[in-house]
Amino acid sequence: MANFAIMGFGTVGGGVAEVLRMNREAIEKRLGEPLCLKYILDVRDLSASPYADKVVGDFSVLENDPDLDVVVESIGGAKVALDFTRRALLAGKHVVTSNKELVATHGRELLAIAREKNVNYLFEASVGGGIPLLRPIFQCLAGNEIEEISGILNGTTNFILTRMFQEGVTFDAALREAQERGYAEQDPTADVEGLDAGRKICILADLAWGREVRPGDIEIQGIRSITPGDVEAAGKDGQVIKLVGRAVRNAGGSVSACVRPHLLSAEHPLAAANGVFNAVMVRGNAVGDVMFYGRGAGDLPTASAVMGDILDALDHRAKRRDLGWSEGADIRPFPHRLKAGTALPVLL
Ligand code: HSE
Repeated sequence: MANFAIMGFGTVGGGVAEVLRMNREAIEKRLGEPLCLKYILDVRDLSASPYADKVVGDFSVLENDPDLDVVVESIGGAKVALDFTRRALLAGKHVVTSNKELVATHGRELLAIAREKNVNYLFEASVGGGIPLLRPIFQCLAGNEIEEISGILNGTTNFILTRMFQEGVTFDAALREAQERGYAEQDPTADVEGLDAGRKICILADLAWGREVRPGDIEIQGIRSITPGDVEAAGKDGQVIKLVGRAVRNAGGSVSACVRPHLLSAEHPLAAANGVFNAVMVRGNAVGDVMFYGRGAGDLPTASAVMGDILDALDHRAKRRDLGWSEGADIRPFPHRLKAGTALPVLL
């Protein structure tokens, strides 16, 4: 029997419990042993939840349980989540997370602790929600030099832009709808100002090139300045506006990365990703362009990726997944190609 705990029983944490309930038979067949959700760590009153008997309020219960194999961190943020993740890894637990803020800002340190303690720190759900993306990059595309990554990396802003474009709804109404659907962060500023997508493009760059690219070191612009008039004008020109995260490796090994609203021809492969869907194109020097597409936010899609990581961590108990990156990427300004007469770059 393998045991895991969920820290933070919100949208993602609740989704993980639900995926196990829905698919227990398939999951345990795949794992080859029973999988037990042993604890839920949360300070809220969950006495009415069907999982009430699993709820604990004290992290040390998880830390000191020698039979606990994996801890899912779905608390979010980089304060309590950082402390608990460090302590869980130091206690020899594998940690799986959807927390892009934590991975983008402290991933290097946490992966170093994981290496020292010979455990896994996995974060497939931190970028692209349910889309298999990180594992394909570090595993399936390992025979390539990655040249460029471009993607729609935030479900909330893509949902807002799509609703503005297709239905003519206001920015505020579309944001409210995204919040009701559980796509947005607790503080949606991180979504609409581009920081969430910025964290994700940094994680992709870290993995692709093995050196740390921090969100504070790249150009990040969100969608607040995009007006219904901009959206309409783009449509008349056969274009759409998308918030795109980009990272390229320049000659000489430096990296340029940014998040900005871009103009895309309606024929561009990324233009077809609407609503909460994310889409990411990765260019490798052997494979050429490959594209990943799917739901980038929401409880079950994100939980799908978390559950995949739980199973992978358990599969790699003896020989851990050796992920990691060093500090000190050489970061250069992004070489934009601006459309004449606008401040919007064009994604070709
Ligand atoms: N707020 C994020 C988004 C959640 O809208 O994409 C998934 O990372």
